[in-house]
Amino acid sequence: MSHTIFYFTGTGNSLKVAKDIAAGLEGASVISMASSVDKATNLVPQGTVGFVFPVYYCGLPQIVHEFISMIDLSATSYVYVVCTYGAMGGNGGCISQARKILKSKGKALNAAFYVKCVDNFILWTWDVTPMKKHSALHEGAREKAEKIAKIVLRKENYQDKSAMEYIGPMIFRHGHYLRTVNFNDKAFCLSGGCISCSLCADVCPTKNISLDDGQPVWGSKKCQRCLACLHLCPVACIQYGEATRKRSRYKNPHIATKELI
Ligand SMILES: Cc1cc2nc3c(=O)[nH]c(=O)nc-3n(C[C@H](O)[C@H](O)[C@H](O)COP(=O)(O)O)c2cc1C
Ligand code: SF4
Ligand code: SF4
Repeated sequence: MSHTIFYFTGTGNSLKVAKDIAAGLEGASVISMASSVDKATNLVPQGTVGFVFPVYYCGLPQIVHEFISMIDLSATSYVYVVCTYGAMGGNGGCISQARKILKSKGKALNAAFYVKCVDNFILWTWDVTPMKKHSALHEGAREKAEKIAKIVLRKENYQDKSAMEYIGPMIFRHGHYLRTVNFNDKAFCLSGGCISCSLCADVCPTKNISLDDGQPVWGSKKCQRCLACLHLCPVACIQYGEATRKRSRYKNPHIATKELI
C-alpha cells in the first residue's frame, strides 16, 4: 500500500514526527507542504495520506488550510491529521477545521492525533518549554509516532481526546491569524549583531524573507508566523516586538538545519 505524509514545520518538531511515522510505514514518502503548495492541485496521492503540522492559535497553520483545500484526495483510502502542540493544546480546533475542509471535498477524516512537543511559542508571556523537560518530550513524541504508524497501517478509525475542544477567544484569535498572517509580519525586527549569514531567509519555509545589503527584510506576503527565522538565527538577533528579547531559542535537536532549508 502507498503511504504519503505531508508536513509543515517551523522549528522541526512536526518534521521529526512525520519522519518517525514514516519509519513505521514501509516506502512512505515524506513531502513538505510549503515546497509543494504551488502544485497542490496536481497532486493525487493514493493509499493513506497524513498531514502533520503544528497547532497555531488552537487551529491549522494558514498554509495547511490552503494545502488540504487544494489537494486532490479522490484516490486516497484513509486520511489522518497529526497536530504537534506545545503547551495548552486546543487541538480540537485543528480537527474540526480539517474535518470541515475534507467534508467539502466529500472525504472523511479517518483519524486525528495530537503529539505533545517542546513549545516554540514565545510571543506572549511564556518562554520555550524548560530544557529539563525536552528529553522526555522528544521520547514521548517518538513513542506516539510509533503508535500512530501502527494505527495507520491498520487503517483504524481513531481520534485522540483533546483536552480543549473549543476555546472561544482563541478561535477568534485563530480567525484573525488566518486572515492576516501572510502580510502581518511587521513586528519582526533586528536587535543588532546580524552577521549577514542569510540563514533566516534560507530556513523560511515560504521564502518570505529577502536580504537587502546583508540584512533580512520580511514582506513577501507569505509569512506563516512559524518562527523558524527567529529561532534559528545563530546570534538570536531576530525579535518579534519586545517580548522575545529575553526568551530562549529552539530547534528540534533531531532535525539538522539543512533539513529545514
Ligand atoms: C504562531 C504559533 C502559535 C502557536 N499556538 C499554539 C497553540 O494554540 N497551542 C499549543 O499547544 N501550541 C501552540 N504553538 C506551539 C507549537 O504548536 C509547537 O511548539 C509545535 O510543536 C511546533 O512545531 P514545529 O517545530 O514543527 O514548527 C504555537 C506556535 C506558534 C509559532
Ligand atoms: S518569515 Fe519567519 S515566521 Fe514568517 S514564514 Fe518565514 S520563517 Fe516563518
Ligand atoms: S540569521 Fe540572523 S545573523 Fe543570519 S542574516 Fe538572518 S538575522 Fe542576520
